[in-house]
This record gives sequence, structure tokens and C-alpha cells, in this order.
Amino acid sequence: MQIYKVGGAVRDRLLGKPVTDIDWVVVGATTEEMLAKGFRPVGADFPVFLHPKSGEEYALARTERKNGRGYGGFIFHASPDVTLEEDLIRRDLTINAMAEDDQQNLTDPYHGQRDLEARLLRHVSPAFAEDPLRVLRVARFAARYAELGFTVAPETLELMRQLSESGELEALTPERSWKEIARALMEDQPQVFIEVLRECGALKVLMPEVDALFGVPQPEAHHPEIDTGAHTLSVLEQAALYKQPLTVRWACLLHDLGKGLTPEEEWPRHIAHEHKGLKLIKAVNERFKAPKDCQELALLVGKYHTHGHRALELKPSTLLELLQSFDVYRRPQRFEEFIAACEMDARGRKGLEQRSYPQADYLRGAATAARSVAVQPLLEKGFKGPELGEAIKSERLKALKAYKAVAPA
Ligand code: CTP
Repeated sequence: MQIYKVGGAVRDRLLGKPVTDIDWVVVGATTEEMLAKGFRPVGADFPVFLHPKSGEEYALARTERKNGRGYGGFIFHASPDVTLEEDLIRRDLTINAMAEDDQQNLTDPYHGQRDLEARLLRHVSPAFAEDPLRVLRVARFAARYAELGFTVAPETLELMRQLSESGELEALTPERSWKEIARALMEDQPQVFIEVLRECGALKVLMPEVDALFGVPQPEAHHPEIDTGAHTLSVLEQAALYKQPLTVRWACLLHDLGKGLTPEEEWPRHIAHEHKGLKLIKAVNERFKAPKDCQELALLVGKYHTHGHRALELKPSTLLELLQSFDVYRRPQRFEEFIAACEMDARGRKGLEQRSYPQADYLRGAATAARSVAVQPLLEKGFKGPELGEAIKSERLKALKAYKAVAPA
């Protein structure tokens, strides 16, 4: 049997990037031989094994053919006569279809190295279309390698366009799509992921609510970039620049969905877009079964981001309502993430990226003031049940009034 390093490990070594995961392909072996060498079988779908010591993945060379719609509809053929070239041709991109032996000799039948140099994400063969998830993968790689100057080859973009129009994307499971979305949002240029999906028509299928923001104007005074889609991309870009976590990036992407529902005659104003957007945010959250913390933050940011921007003008009672809605007493981190998303929203505007955002510290101060109310003295005064709740609220309101009176405006 011959063993080769394949996929991302070869690509990233040639790019001079750190390699974390190594995938191996084994040519000329049978399952029985692998088991006899102590490899542990994994995965019901394909003949893939874990190395007894390193735990790395070793797959028998295989060919694949699609059988029906969606994922899972695959017929694969793995046997000792499947060649390395046959295994590589079923892969997604030329830069992912190179193999290397233990002497670092490269097998590159589909010119991955040439495309690495040309900074091109190009599909290997028409078999690309057999897994619609690859549309998201290519957009994710575009986001990851944008800083190196990579773009999607025109013929690959065309294939992605056809796949998006064919209805195949609808067959993806929420779990597979979310995994790609989450990884893409955590790249350094997550806005490129959305741009590429939009360019090939996949955004309209996957997140029509986000796609609808392009072409929707906002008032120039607050939004020099005018276009709501362009604004959303800039907010995402800022979130990555400021190394925000996934929850914040997801909330940034969805915060303005309500603006896509404004009737044209009301443009460029978007009255009550925060509230109108909530059902759309909920729909996107559920479509991809986003994790609970991402779902929650996206809804809260959608509902309250304008409160964040107006923090310094809010009445103490409105400030209290905001803090209560976030349950800031038990979930201080979530409120921090809300503040971060509001700040990214404020910075994600053309020419305003460097602006200061005094609302952030003001909100933190308000949270500290409300949290400083001690419950013990109220218990000692004999408050119980709902009355205790009311008494705490009223003390918090007092604390916020005092805070507002002295906080620098
Ligand atoms: N692959 C593919 N189509 C997919 C998933 C994977 O062709 N839908 C192939 C590619 O050759 C890829 C390899 O399997 O390089 C390994 O896949 P994976 O580990 O998911 O990706 P990597 O390329 O290693 O990239 P990453 O750095 O994102 O993990």
C-alpha cells in the first residue's frame, strides 16, 4: 500500500500556512489490511480509519458517484485498484486535490500548484456539483485566503451559480450548512464569504433576508455608504477586525434584516425596523439551527441595537428595561456582546470606522450601577416574592437615576 498526505495539509504547507489537521489517503489496500495493521474504522459512510497512534484520518482511495438529491445519496467505490488520480479528481478544488508522499514528492494531476500561484479557487471537474456544500466551502476559502489575493475562477463561479439555481442547496442539512457558515464567519474577512455567496446566487437561496438588504438605501447622514447590504458587510468586517466571537458576528450579520421589509415609499427611513426584523432573524436562526447563544444574541441585538446607539439619551426607566431584558445580573457576558455588536454597527459605516463609541462605557457603567443594588437589606426589611422583585427594580431605578445624573454625557 502507498500512503499520501492530501487536501488541506498539502495546500497549506505550500502556502506557508500552519497545518493543523492532516488527512491521508491509502492506495492499494483493503479494509482487512487496514484492520490488521491496527487502524480503527470510523464513519459508516466511507472506508475511513484512525491511525492507532496519531489518531489521524486515513481514507482508502475511492471514487464517488452521486445517486439522487442531497447529501447521503452517494455510491462510492473503494478498492485496491482505485488510483490516486481517481481519488483526487472527485475532490472540490484543484488546490485541495494534491497529494504528497513521505519524501514530499507532489502528485498534482489537476494543476493545483499552478492555481495556488495564480491565486485561483478552481473546481477540479464537473464532479464538483455532486456535493452542493462545496458552494459554501468555496465561499469560505475565498474569505480565508482573500488576504493572499485569492479569487474564485469565473468557470467555478458559473458552476456555483448553476448549482444555486438548481435547487440543490435546499437539500443541505442545517447542521452541515451551519458548520460552514460558522467557520466562514470566524475567518479574517467574513464579508467575502457573503459577497461570494451573493455573487453566485446562493445567498438568495440560503438567506434571502440578507440578500434583500442589497439595494435598500438608508439615510446618508447616518450611513454615508447608503446601501444596507454594503453596511451589513462593513459591520461584519469590523467584527472580524476587532476579533469578535461567533455570537457577535452572527448578530452583526442579522441586525438590520427588518430594513429589507420597509416599503419603498418610506425609503430611506426604516421606522421600527428593529421590531419588524425579529421574525426574519428567528427564521434564519431556525433554518440553520444556530446554537442557542447565537440565536439569543441575534434577536436581542436586532431588537435593541438602536437603544445601544441612543444609550446616553435613554431615560433611566428605559435603561432599566434594557438591562432587565438582557438579564445583565446573571448574564453579564451577553450584555458585553450586545455592546460589542452595537459598536461594530456604529463603526461599519463608510468613513466612520475610527469613530469613538462612548455609549459602550456608558452602558457598562449603567450595568454596574444596577448590579450594585444589594438584595440582602431588602430581604431584611421583609420583602418576599413578587414584592421583593418590585423593590429590587425600584432600587435599581434609583441607582440608574443617580448614575445618569453624574455620568459624563
Ligand atoms: N473535500 C471535498 N469536498 C468536500 C469536503 C472535502 O472535495 N465537500 C476534500 C478536499 O480535497 C479537502 C479534503 O477533502 O481538501 C479534506 O476536507 P476538509 O478537512 O473538510 O477540508 P480541508 O481542505 O482540510 O480544509 P480546512 O483547512 O478548512 O479543514
